[in-house]
Amino acid sequence: MELSARTSPYHLPFLISTLFLFHFAAVTPIGVNYGTFADNLPPPAQVAQFLKDRTTIDRVKIFDANPDIIRAFSGTGILLSITVPNGDIPSLADPRTARRWVGSHIQPFYPQTKFQYILVGSEVLHWGDQNMKANLVPAMRSLHNALTRANMTTIKVTSPHSLGILESSDPPSLARFRPGWDRDFLAPMLLFHRRTKSPFMVNPYPYFSWTPKTEAFTLFRPNPGTRDRVTGKNYTNVYDLLLDAVFSSMKRLGFGDVKIAVGEVGWPSRGGPGMTHCTVENARWHNLNVVRKAGSGVGTPLMPGRTFETYLFALFNENLKPGSDDERNFGLFRPDFSAVYDIGIMRESQPGGSGAKPTPVPAAGKQWCVAKAEATDAALRANINWACTNGGVDCRPIQEGGACFKPNTTRSHAAYVMNSYYQAKGHQDFNCDFSKTGFVTAADPSYGTCKYSA
Ligand SMILES: *[C@@H]1O[C@H](CO)[C@@H](O)[C@H](O)[C@H]1NC(C)=O
Ligand SMILES: *[C@@H]1O[C@H](CO)[C@@H](O)[C@H](O)[C@H]1NC(C)=O
Ligand SMILES: *[C@@H]1O[C@H](CO)[C@@H](O)[C@H](O)[C@H]1NC(C)=O
Repeated sequence: MELSARTSPYHLPFLISTLFLFHFAAVTPIGVNYGTFADNLPPPAQVAQFLKDRTTIDRVKIFDANPDIIRAFSGTGILLSITVPNGDIPSLADPRTARRWVGSHIQPFYPQTKFQYILVGSEVLHWGDQNMKANLVPAMRSLHNALTRANMTTIKVTSPHSLGILESSDPPSLARFRPGWDRDFLAPMLLFHRRTKSPFMVNPYPYFSWTPKTEAFTLFRPNPGTRDRVTGKNYTNVYDLLLDAVFSSMKRLGFGDVKIAVGEVGWPSRGGPGMTHCTVENARWHNLNVVRKAGSGVGTPLMPGRTFETYLFALFNENLKPGSDDERNFGLFRPDFSAVYDIGIMRESQPGGSGAKPTPVPAAGKQWCVAKAEATDAALRANINWACTNGGVDCRPIQEGGACFKPNTTRSHAAYVMNSYYQAKGHQDFNCDFSKTGFVTAADPSYGTCKYSA
């Protein structure tokens, strides 16, 4: 969607009014995986500049620790996460090796490059040998300690997992980690995450559970849903089901409080012969819904109100990836920076006029206003108070007994109220600004009997 910058005609009493003098393109903060399995990609410096100037992508994850890329993001303000190769894990269990690794891969670029995570390996439990698995948590601890010693405490350590860590996922409430892995690797890792306040990272791909029969369920389209026979919760998309299966498995080990981050998720816009589910429209719709899930605060049936830091896969189509055509077509962008489709992550303004011009497809149809992931509960409570008292919004649905009372969270209530205000005022982008706590989305936030107007 193209969002225009305007100033607001009204004043929220609780706002610092000078904020309103600036523009308010609604922003969807989102991460991407910047894979480089290609021979036709632009140089890293151009990529970093493009992301900063032309998109609202505010965090990037790479699959190595390529110094050219690390340097390219210097000064951009974009958060960067780098990956330790699986093969280096055993040696990094040694504290001195970990200190040297931090000294050579992070320190030279710190703090000009804003590091977010050191990702220790990639799906190690799934792909790694016994030596890598056994040393995974020790390496995470050593790297964390090395960062602490160097006073780089804002950089967190985590490790992305495939959902091969689950023994079962359906029904989600009975899901559990693979026996053995749970005790040997995952419980110690979750304890590490709790202590270091870092998220548990998973790669839940609805795409991999696609079948012709489950198409609507994997693609966030209308379908009868599936009921968890234990909790009675109704699942209308597989993404919620997978996230809740991860949550139940963590909770079973006593770690329901640890945050979940999504390291990879995506859908290809093209596939080989017969792969009719790999279309631009399916990829767009899937990713649009994932972005909304990340930031709206609607959460999942077992995690109402939660937001999920999310990294879409992937930034570019990568022409050298092995396998079938779908593997090479997960990108949001082509190598010339043109957008394969638009999910509301383009900025309208074009500072400096640099670089090639993307061609976003305008999002057709209805739009809703919801709360941004990073909006604080205090700010969202203020939005509710204002909209319900001075904003002319009918707030009965979020009161006890109302259709949108549950989940009883500030985030969910705020989204309902902010959307009602946005719709009532003629749904212009600035009606959804709320001092930069709202954003416009094309994905319908309605759930159950709670209907968001459009
Ligand atoms: C880290 O901070 C402490 C206290 O501010 C200081 O004494 C120490 O020299 C710092 N270490 C490094 C490696 O910068
Ligand atoms: C699940 O929710 C969908 C959408 O609201 C609804 O159409 C469906 O009947 C529900 N299914 C069950 C099993 O309750
Ligand atoms: C709803 O949430 C508020 C704030 O957390 C709490 O005070 C209230 O008791 C909750 N109401 C119900 C019925 O759960």
